[in-house]
Amino acid sequence: MAISTVGVLGCGLMGAGIAQVCAQAGYTTIVREVEEPLLRKGLGRIEKFLADGVTRGKVTPEARDATLGKLSGTTKFEDFARCDLVIEAIIENVDEKRRAYAALDAVVGEAAIFCSNTSSLCITELAAATRRPDRFGGLHFFNPVPLMKLVEVVRGLSTTDETYRAVFAFAQSLGKEPITAPDRPGFIVNRLLVPYLLDAVRAYENGLGTLEDIDKGMTLGCGHPMGPFTLLDFVGLDTTYYIANIMFEEFREPQYAPPPLLKRMVLAGRLGRKSGQGFYKY
Ligand code: CAA
Repeated sequence: MAISTVGVLGCGLMGAGIAQVCAQAGYTTIVREVEEPLLRKGLGRIEKFLADGVTRGKVTPEARDATLGKLSGTTKFEDFARCDLVIEAIIENVDEKRRAYAALDAVVGEAAIFCSNTSSLCITELAAATRRPDRFGGLHFFNPVPLMKLVEVVRGLSTTDETYRAVFAFAQSLGKEPITAPDRPGFIVNRLLVPYLLDAVRAYENGLGTLEDIDKGMTLGCGHPMGPFTLLDFVGLDTTYYIANIMFEEFREPQYAPPPLLKRMVLAGRLGRKSGQGFYKY
């Protein structure tokens, strides 16, 4: 299955990172946003990341130009017609994804593979919302996408061996280290990470220590790059709350139940870095 043109649906934080690594790996990459201002913002994010990379000496000016040369933006689904692989990275809402897949199915060639970057929705359910459930899989990237080596490749019930192998090889061609994860909420990483983050909130609520001391405990004591509260602010409290609810809904085990403080912080709009305040102020 030869892949030369990749479509990325959504140019938010994750979509922009995914489009960047695809273009960086030499794929002709088209990224779609719903409207021009959002598209400009997303492409601006990629340009800034590459410019920072040049400043840090991590990216050569030639590599930056080559990446940008492989990348284009659009607001139209029709521009995905020539895509061999489409990675969907839009809002985590099944109905929105269903609408997007219907629009894609109408224009993208029959042999093309669809992947979703969902962190928590059921891959089998999303696959069933397309006309190509056999050519559908999960391809879950981590934030910040250009820096994090891991990608989870998720097989739905209807994903064929051929599709799985093609998606896995594609992830490797991006310079990533793929792992195979089951179609269960949280896949592998969030299945372990989310209960840990929720536990940190519960422990804080119970007076275990200050935010700073708990974070310092896990960075300096365990070598984690970020303590749990810095990481919660980085991932987004709303995102964590959303994933936790899906996991709790499916497994019905208390470790996945979001603690009251997390819910209230989300209700108060303290979503983390993106809103200027989470556990810390930014
Ligand atoms: N271009 C190229 N390279 C860059 C760069 C850029 N624009 N910006 C930074 N880098 C490089 C740096 O040069 C540095 O490289 P070296 O290690 O070779 O020196 C490296 O990237 C790290 O950069 P910094 O030194 O600036 O930053 P840091 O050391 O503080 O690391 C981090 C930042 C990688 C984000 C680190 O803090 C980290 O790993 N945090 C945890 C992130 C994490 O857990 N993400 C997953 C969240 S869960 C998720 O995403 C899934 C979900 O479903 C919710």
